[in-house]
Amino acid sequence: MKIEAFRLERFYSRFEFTTQYLLCSSDCEAMHIHDLLSLEEGAHVKFMKQWLGYTETLGSHKLREEITKLYSSASPAQVLVFSGAEEPIFLLWHALLEAEDEVIVQFPCYQSAASVPESIGCKVKPWRARFENGAPFFDISELRRLISPKTRAVYINSPHNPTGYHFDERQYTEIVSLCQSAGAVLISDEVYRELELDPSSRLPAIVDVYEKGVSIGVMSKAYGLAGLRIGWLASKDDTLLRHCAMLKEYTTICNAAPSEFLAEVALRNRHHLLNRNLDIIRHNLPLLNDFFSRFPDIFHWHCPSAGSIGFAKWKLDLDGMALAEDIVKKKNVLILPGEVYDEPGFFRVGFGRRNMPEALGRFEEYVMEELISKHR
Ligand SMILES: Cc1ncc(COP(=O)(O)O)c(C=O)c1O
Repeated sequence: MKIEAFRLERFYSRFEFTTQYLLCSSDCEAMHIHDLLSLEEGAHVKFMKQWLGYTETLGSHKLREEITKLYSSASPAQVLVFSGAEEPIFLLWHALLEAEDEVIVQFPCYQSAASVPESIGCKVKPWRARFENGAPFFDISELRRLISPKTRAVYINSPHNPTGYHFDERQYTEIVSLCQSAGAVLISDEVYRELELDPSSRLPAIVDVYEKGVSIGVMSKAYGLAGLRIGWLASKDDTLLRHCAMLKEYTTICNAAPSEFLAEVALRNRHHLLNRNLDIIRHNLPLLNDFFSRFPDIFHWHCPSAGSIGFAKWKLDLDGMALAEDIVKKKNVLILPGEVYDEPGFFRVGFGRRNMPEALGRFEEYVMEELISKHR
């Protein structure tokens, strides 16, 4: 299989563990195992007694039961557990697609959504974001133009990586009805779901509203537990689920037993984790808004209403990659250049981490010292 290098992961692998301040992380603040176990009486002791044999390929029944509480209509048999969200994206595309199939993917995107179908030999039609003064927008009439009975699947992600865009209920319903008319599978990457600042803007999970809908979820983002490497998909299509489970026997076979146990504890206490992470976001966002408003000649910024990331635009004509490297060198701060998404001129900002204010402070120093004083 020939597959394009994952540009975002290539970039991260150079800087993530050597740069002190990450101003672009998409995952919310993590925690120690000790603190997670403290959320539940008796969990420490049970964790110590966790058996370290192989686990069920589908994911433990108890974990799948906890996962179904995120949905209104899915049963444990309709949930499959994987390593992160990356594995189900990869396997789902392989289970669904054959060469020459046509799919539609929101662009820019988390790259595996597009590169995996491309590697299978499929035609990937981009549903592109439009930007007006830096504010992202996905036009439903554009999707209407792209979709046809030839469309095998549509891949959406809301809240969206990297733009922070979040569909409203009307748009969401239209997307579902377009897929229904075309007979297309609708894959909804819901890894940032439950991070809506206004809970009334939370969209129903796709598995609950469309018979051909597949929801992808993960512990990494809203719950801040990326190190568990636990993700899942939920679908009402038994054949598709069986196919994905069969393919998993060629990748990870089953999940790590300690991670399954910890994910179960975390999901039982998910409101506690979500409140903690939303508090961090509510603290960080006004600081970002204030920062960007003080440099109107340098940035376009549109404050997202959900999720943990936003996409800022440079008003200056710069080499985004070289600039990001220079910021690491001079200030030990990492931003994610839009180049990794094929969107030069933009950069991704993450605001779900506790040390974001310090990271932003150092970024501001860079802006003042290198961009304002030198270009004046
Ligand atoms: C939209 C989206 N989907 C899937 C993933 C993969 O999640 P994980 O790294 O937990 O496997 C990410 C990670 O950044 C993402 O942003």
